[in-house]
Amino acid sequence: MRVAIASDHGGVNILKEIAGLLDELGIEYVDFGCDCTTSVDYPDYALPTAEKVANGEFDRAILICGTGIGMCIAANKVKGIRAALVHDTFSAKATREHNDSNILTMGERVIGPGLAREIAAIWLTGEFQGGRHANRIGKITEYENTHQ
Ligand code: RB5
Repeated sequence: MRVAIASDHGGVNILKEIAGLLDELGIEYVDFGCDCTTSVDYPDYALPTAEKVANGEFDRAILICGTGIGMCIAANKVKGIRAALVHDTFSAKATREHNDSNILTMGERVIGPGLAREIAAIWLTGEFQGGRHANRIGKITEYENTHQ
């Protein structure tokens, strides 16, 4: 699995935590920044990273901003992306098993680094269950294919 990671200025510390976790898990990843203290715009990081997942260059992505909300909204504008904003471990497991989410977003101003690592570890190892959940995702994909 190849994972892309990125943040805006509001998520740089948790982004470093996630990079450390991926190193520990031996998962291949590329860090697309920002390594910044000055203000940047989250769509400038969410959109190109989401496109890299949508076009198959990466299997999944993790995006961090202050709340995780902006990254999630922007990433979900890219066709084929199922980005999930997650701040608890139950949802981390559920969104992999039920939604086959391909992008995880979190907010550094919402949760601490320990919980963010735990959520990311669960999400990275979670398996999509298919079955009725695949039918539901199929309906979203069909909508994307016919309305955009
Ligand atoms: C930046 O101040 C902040 O708006 C951003 O990190 C994010 O929380 C947006 O949703």
